[in-house]
Amino acid sequence: MTLITCIEDLRRLAQRRVPRMFYDYADSGSWTESTYRANEEDFRKLKFRQRVAVDLNRRSLRTTMAGQEAAMPVAIAPTGLTGMQHADGEILAARAAEKFGIPFTLSTMSICSIEDVAAHTSKPFWFQLYVMKDRDFINRLIDRAKAAGCSALVLTLDLQVLGQRHKDLRNGLSAPPRLTIANLLNMASKPRWCMGMLGTSRRQFGNIVGHAQSVSDMSSLSAWTSQQFDPSLSWNDVAWIKQRWGGKLIIKGIMDAEDARLAVDSGADALIVSNHGGRQLDGAPSSIAALPGIVDAVGKQIEVHMDGGVRSGQDVLRAVALGARGVYIGRPFLYGLGALGEAGVTRCLEIIHNELDISMAFCGKRDIQQVSREILLP
Ligand SMILES: Cc1cc2nc3c(=O)[nH]c(=O)nc-3n(C[C@H](O)[C@H](O)[C@H](O)COP(=O)(O)O)c2cc1C
Repeated sequence: MTLITCIEDLRRLAQRRVPRMFYDYADSGSWTESTYRANEEDFRKLKFRQRVAVDLNRRSLRTTMAGQEAAMPVAIAPTGLTGMQHADGEILAARAAEKFGIPFTLSTMSICSIEDVAAHTSKPFWFQLYVMKDRDFINRLIDRAKAAGCSALVLTLDLQVLGQRHKDLRNGLSAPPRLTIANLLNMASKPRWCMGMLGTSRRQFGNIVGHAQSVSDMSSLSAWTSQQFDPSLSWNDVAWIKQRWGGKLIIKGIMDAEDARLAVDSGADALIVSNHGGRQLDGAPSSIAALPGIVDAVGKQIEVHMDGGVRSGQDVLRAVALGARGVYIGRPFLYGLGALGEAGVTRCLEIIHNELDISMAFCGKRDIQQVSREILLP
């Protein structure tokens, strides 16, 4: 068994095991990928203050995110097509998160449906909603998430229009994948992935196909999403969605203090500082650079979460130091899943937990609740 010591090991293994079309879908950003890269690079610019000779016994990383208990301030981000990184991917990742004791967020664009994930897990998970033009479909989706016992709705606001990822266009990304000669040859070199896919019936968008009208043709994901996603989405929609949902609401995709104030006004329980992992507005700042301004603007009124570029426990610590109540990981768990299925997601969480615990101790802190900006050098 390959020795896995860091998230980069999982990424490399996933790259070998997952067909190129789906690996590229995860490991890419929009246009020049400058924001995608900045998300990771800007974390490394933040330096810690090392402290010594502090009692470091009995350390704790436990916290809550939007009222939910979490073994560490980390949740699984919603990602589309996760069941294409590995057969039954959403179910496997949800199980790993549940066992580890952190929140799992299921995407609208998942392969395994809400009901399917609920049937294969025993604790409530979070559901991420994209607003589409078909409001009947959205109403039913909200009701389905409620019926499945989801404990928070993560409402994504930064995908009214679609950023372009060159690789997805070149690879002709679709689910299930189109069987061109190039795709078949590439898949033939990924026998584990193929065996998994042959062993499951979950190969299309489980929340959508059979539930939304005129959705039989998913041959081009980007064409379908750009037709279906609603460019007219506004804060008025947030109001009726909040009312229909009636539970915890987390607003995702905030990069500006003014929008953060509007999120507070909307009555949401938390907001996520996010540029969609560098997949939407290329040229937007990194999430970690945007975080402090938003915490300063609204941090006393609303729980502020963040995602984008978290690749280690040290990054989690940096984000918490700058005022994030918790972070979400996208690619790191996808790499774990593509590399080793459920065990890979568990390994990803173990790595981040251990790095966070030890690094927090190096900064002279025993409890994640004590972490603040003072652990970073000015
Ligand atoms: C492959 C992939 C698919 C994604 N799909 C969704 C989605 O369906 N809904 C959503 O709100 N965000 C989606 N995102 C954005 C993530 O929720 C999250 O914001 C981002 O991945 C965080 O950055 P990181 O991957 O650097 O951790 C996706 C991200 C990736 C990488």
